[in-house]
Amino acid sequence: MKLSITLKNLMFCSLLFCISSAFSEEDKFDAAQTYKTTCFACHGTGAAHSPEVGDVIEWEIRLEKGLDTLVKNSINGLNGIMPPRGLCVDCSDAQLKAIVEYMLESSQ
Ligand code: HEC
Repeated sequence: MKLSITLKNLMFCSLLFCISSAFSEEDKFDAAQTYKTTCFACHGTGAAHSPEVGDVIEWEIRLEKGLDTLVKNSINGLNGIMPPRGLCVDCSDAQLKAIVEYMLESSQ
């Protein structure tokens, strides 16, 4: 009897642990970090004539298309030179949006 309670408690605890770690996995996404490891190769250097993060006027002009269009072009790629998903194949649409927002915030 005592043992079964302990086992139940254990199972309950590990279930809770699973749920909480699944949540923290989402929370752990760091737009700035992902930008540095994927997008920076082009957007930090201007490689392939990419708009450099920090170039205020460049991003002001692009933002005139609207944030949704910028995010859509990040997901689908643009003109054959901006690769689909910016080469971040693991990034979800929402995560790509967070990175684009980070890039815009860094270019004000
Ligand atoms: C291989 C180089 C390269 C990488 C890697 C890259 N980009 Fe780009 N990106 C470009 C180029 C080049 C353009 C300009 C395309 C044009 O205007 O024709 C561009 C344009 C953009 C734009 C502007 C789109 C528009 O509608 O004007 C956004 C937003 C963007 N990139 C986001 C990202 C994000 C987010 C990542 C990383 C997840 C990323 N890029 C990674 C090369 C790159």
